[in-house]
Amino acid sequence: MRFFLKTANLFLLFLALMTLASCTCEDREERQAAARERQGLILANVVEAVQESEGARLYREKTCNTCHGEDGINPLLPSYPVIAQQGEQYALTQMLDIKSGNRAAGLSAVMKPIIQSVTDEELAILATFIATELGQGKAIGTGNADPASPGGKLFKSKTCTACHGKDGKTPILKEYPKIAGHGAEYAKMQMLDIKSGARANSMAVLGMKGIMHLVTEEEINHLADYIATMSR
Ligand code: HEC
Ligand code: HEC
Repeated sequence: MRFFLKTANLFLLFLALMTLASCTCEDREERQAAARERQGLILANVVEAVQESEGARLYREKTCNTCHGEDGINPLLPSYPVIAQQGEQYALTQMLDIKSGNRAAGLSAVMKPIIQSVTDEELAILATFIATELGQGKAIGTGNADPASPGGKLFKSKTCTACHGKDGKTPILKEYPKIAGHGAEYAKMQMLDIKSGARANSMAVLGMKGIMHLVTEEEINHLADYIATMSR
């Protein structure tokens, strides 16, 4: 009997030790898993930081995203431009012109204070980023352009195609903008400002001003609607 009790006690002790051992073992595994997860997160952050281009970092750090949207496609207000996939040379010239005050029409004044803290070298990096990375592969413009619509017909008859291309995204010179996919409100404002001479920052714009006296405000409205339907 005594022997039996002793064996039973020993057996219980053994069981207790086993449970304890398995407990610490599980604990350790949990801790190791947590550590692995932490390491993974740190690594993922490092990889992300390394993968982010300088342009993407500047776009975020200089708060361009707050007005132009994360992917440059959905600006804060419809009167702001869609800048994703804009031509590099055109984008750079415009940023330099807004910085210097050479382009002061429309709503340029809201961007001017921010652009003051961006060096010309950084603007060049941002222009490359805008043209190549920003909103790349995403739909820009509603994409249901109808050449038979009033705006579609005017786009051809008023010779807009001669400078901006048939599709509004293949300008004849790299200093000229891609206009396809701009919001109607922004496009309208720019056309009115170019027509009135309020926006005359580049020599290039003078060519367009020359034809705008042949375009009425009502026609500008149709053209703006059409521009918003063309895909960039
Ligand atoms: C506070 C809002 C705001 C911020 C911040 C801002 N912008 Fe702008 N940006 C505008 C507005 C508004 C215009 C159009 C001005 C006009 O009406 O003529 C513009 C115009 C532009 C244009 C010319 C677009 C075209 O089609 O002509 C580019 C390129 C541009 N911004 C890039 C940037 C970059 C890069 C940054 C960051 C360094 C930035 N913007 C920061 C509001 C902003
Ligand atoms: C002779 C060439 C020429 C013709 C023709 C022309 N444009 Fe332009 N357009 C330009 C240039 C150049 C600019 C940019 C000016 C600058 O550098 O600031 C511009 C700017 C614009 C903008 C503003 C783009 C932006 O991102 O801010 C819109 C919108 C536009 N054009 C629409 C039209 C429409 C619609 C027509 C036809 C009625 C037309 N253009 C005819 C050369 C032309």
